[in-house]
Amino acid sequence: MTAPAPRREQPEGERLQKVLARVGFGSRRLCEELVADGRVTVNGTLAELGRRVDVETDQVEVDGVPVGVLPGLVYYLLNKPSGVVTTASDPSGRPTIVQLVPSEPRVFAVGRLDVATEGLILLTNDGELAQRVAHPSHGVDKEYLAEVHGVPSPAAIRRLREGVELEDGVTSPAKVASLSPGLLRITIHEGRNRQVRRMCEAVGHPVVRLVRTRIGPISDRSLKPGSWRELEQSEVLALARAARPR
Ligand code: URA
Repeated sequence: MTAPAPRREQPEGERLQKVLARVGFGSRRLCEELVADGRVTVNGTLAELGRRVDVETDQVEVDGVPVGVLPGLVYYLLNKPSGVVTTASDPSGRPTIVQLVPSEPRVFAVGRLDVATEGLILLTNDGELAQRVAHPSHGVDKEYLAEVHGVPSPAAIRRLREGVELEDGVTSPAKVASLSPGLLRITIHEGRNRQVRRMCEAVGHPVVRLVRTRIGPISDRSLKPGSWRELEQSEVLALARAARPR
């Protein structure tokens, strides 16, 4: 009787360059170069060519930035119109942002905008990135255009910049520019409930209209209200970089 042939070990997982190519880092050839150039780590260890990864459990980083490698991750940028709610469903039947983007795969909003606030909001099924972007300590700043009642004085603008006493504490320093009488550009990195509205109200200039124009590195002046688009891979990377734990 002949002995059974020894079983060859099946290497587990997908090849790293294939995974990187799938999530948008370029051709497999380019991704091989990324790996060969020492720009990719897996679970904190420099990856070598031929490395296989388990996309469910391995943590892949390119240039020190964690990248989502699970198949099927989507990232949408939506220009939310006024009157649309950020929650997935609304008991009073108002339209919701998830109705404005594809229903499959299921996505959720990164942070929230008030029903009356317009402008850019991200939706994704990448929970890890969403959490990092929404977390105030990671410093992804958000920029708003606020049309306010009256014309804020230099002293009011200084108060907005330095921090305003709200019922849930003093706000962190903000960037505030007066673009024209009654029109402010306000950049904050906290994400408290109705923060910009409450800040403006606290200095005597309630908001008439509020539009979010930028989320960290992401902006888009040509996206019409109610429209959405997928983020480019370079934008996803820039966002991941901006939301990198410090
Ligand atoms: N600040 C607000 O007051 N409202 C928003 O929707 C976002 C920021």
